[in-house]
Amino acid sequence: MTDHTQTNLVTLTRHVFETQRLHPDASGDLSLLLNAIQIGCKFVEACVRKARLVHLVGLAGNQNVQGEDQKKLDVLSNEMFVNALKASGKVKMMISEEDEDAIIIQGSQARYCVTFDPLDGSSNIDAGVNVGTIFGIFQLKNHTQDAVAKDILVKGSEIKVAGYCMYGSSCNIVVTLGSGRVDGFTLDPALGEFILTHPDIRVPSRGKIYSINEGNSLYWDDATRAYIESLKNGPDGRKPYSARYIGSMVADVHRTLLYGGIFAYPADKKSRKGKLRILYESFPMAKIMEDAGGKAITGTKRILDLVPESIHDRCPVFMGSADDVEDALTSFKTHD
Ligand code: AHG
Ligand code: MN
Ligand code: MN
Ligand code: MN
Repeated sequence: MTDHTQTNLVTLTRHVFETQRLHPDASGDLSLLLNAIQIGCKFVEACVRKARLVHLVGLAGNQNVQGEDQKKLDVLSNEMFVNALKASGKVKMMISEEDEDAIIIQGSQARYCVTFDPLDGSSNIDAGVNVGTIFGIFQLKNHTQDAVAKDILVKGSEIKVAGYCMYGSSCNIVVTLGSGRVDGFTLDPALGEFILTHPDIRVPSRGKIYSINEGNSLYWDDATRAYIESLKNGPDGRKPYSARYIGSMVADVHRTLLYGGIFAYPADKKSRKGKLRILYESFPMAKIMEDAGGKAITGTKRILDLVPESIHDRCPVFMGSADDVEDALTSFKTHD
């Protein structure tokens, strides 16, 4: 008997079309948008794979709005996503980590704004450590006039689609299409297609791993310090948690999504609002975590209840297994 999974491949494209068919009023625009994102991801995957060989590592020689030294791949991946999204004809506005201002498509009748971090964890790229792309898709309320940046300063729960692509030992796209489930796809380089390999991902309700940059512990507030100490000492009589920290949000969140536990980038005395950017890091990852049965908070509030003050606004992040995030919330309540 043939193993039908080999002759009945569920590609990401097929998965998106099948999901679209569940919504008779769907325009198909999201399918075209996701196709453009897939093209961008395949391009970045190819560049990351050969970066060292074609001198694509190292600095581009300028700084971005974040005050970071841009890597060559930051710039290249950004240009690719901007061009692919523009070419789809389905985007009214884009918000990219690498562009200071919103990218507005003049005269566009499209309805969607795409927020994206074209290359996440780029400080790791020169060492060949996992990096990624993070994206969120929002439907804009204003359909008629040209978009303006403030149109995307909306509550995180408005996000319709969220996903990331991780460029590691294999290339994986993890996405929620807004129907409350999260699926993972692995790129088959021979086919050039993302194949369903992780259907309906669910975050374990509790994990055994914590993921935080302990190098910032000098600057932590009492609530963060007490919570992390509790994990190290073995919370509620359980074994102490293991520490894992890669320094690429995509990789640390992907491991947390599959294995459980908690990933945190808290606010501290150095970064009053934390480091991670709301529109293209915190919101998409929070949506994925929640749709997979996990939680995502700032320490005191649900991330998806936030409204960013500007397009590069930041927020503190604690996300992962529901029970672990609840413990972090309790620590903030008792140390407020
Ligand atoms: P980016 O490379 O897109 O600027 O994002 C880097 C972020 C995120 O990927 C990661 O979780 C965090 O920076 C790591 O920061 P530290 O090196 O300060 O721990
Ligand atoms: Mn950056
Ligand atoms: Mn990032
Ligand atoms: Mn980035």
